[in-house]
Amino acid sequence: MDALLRDRSLLYVTGKGGVGKTTVAAALGLAAARTGRRTIVCEVAEQDRMSRAFARQGVRPEQEVELSDGLWAITIDPQAALEEWLAKQVGGTALKVLGHSHAFQYFVAAAPGAKELITIAKVWELAQKQRWNSSNRLYDLVVVDAPASGHGIGMLTTPRTFGEIARVGPIRRQAYKVSEMLSDPARTGYVGVALPEEMPVTETIELDGRLRKEVGLGLETIYMNAMWPERFSSSDVTKLRAAEPAGAVRAALSVHERVKAQRAQVRRLEGAIDAPVTPLPFVFESELELEHYEHLADAIA
Ligand SMILES: Nc1ncnc2c1ncn2[C@@H]1O[C@H](COP(=O)(O)OP(=O)(O)OP(=O)(O)O)[C@@H](O)[C@H]1O
Ligand SMILES: [Mg+2]
Repeated sequence: MDALLRDRSLLYVTGKGGVGKTTVAAALGLAAARTGRRTIVCEVAEQDRMSRAFARQGVRPEQEVELSDGLWAITIDPQAALEEWLAKQVGGTALKVLGHSHAFQYFVAAAPGAKELITIAKVWELAQKQRWNSSNRLYDLVVVDAPASGHGIGMLTTPRTFGEIARVGPIRRQAYKVSEMLSDPARTGYVGVALPEEMPVTETIELDGRLRKEVGLGLETIYMNAMWPERFSSSDVTKLRAAEPAGAVRAALSVHERVKAQRAQVRRLEGAIDAPVTPLPFVFESELELEHYEHLADAIA
């Protein structure tokens, strides 16, 4: 875990829909920022959840907002990212001649996956020591709150596909650099998020296989999110089983069964995948706030 937070430039947080990717990305961002690394968490699917969680309203896409000490967030807007890239390639004046929104529409219409390519190229750009716009801040670590499994992997393969299609020129060069970073284990780490249930665990195992096949790297670490705490010792359970089966006793035993089933899923995942599985606690709150993200960051660190 330490190496992951300390050495990588890019952490790509992925998993099935609704398992806690955004939550884990935020907690990872906090944990990394605490170690003194300038970290930016980026959302790619027009969610803007992160800055809302940190009570920052009215943030414009593409703005790098400081959430807490050493931690920033951005929601990537493909159109703005493409304009920024083009401005660097052809200069701002030429871009004005092309017409801003037209350039985007041409590009996106020209090739399926163009939006994903721009988005992942922007992710790459955030991790560079030389930004497209040289007045922008430099970061040590970029944490990507990726789209759910299938789409998340699709985004990773677009640079290679484009690199092969575009035979020459700046798009090929750019796509190649991005694709190189995405398959470099020294710079990029893939972080899986799962829930301790049958289906999410099965999907995480599949996700690991697909990542290996498509990107050449598997999940480096997995967070098993929303684990219930073990409340009863085995002697408690024996006493509960012997007790009068009143409502509260039945409820306690059913919680116990659920916790046991969750642990069995952790073992199943550990048995199927090479990566360490770290449990994260279920937070018994209706809405997660900064203090809860801090708490999850503690569990990560
Ligand atoms: N450890 C936890 N304890 C309690 N609630 C949690 C925990 N982790 C996530 N949640 C809640 O579960 C919901 C889903 O979490 P989150 O949005 O992080 O998932 P996601 O994988 O990013 O979802 P999506 O695929 O829709 O982007 C949110 O309401 C979040 O606050
Ligand atoms: Mg999310």
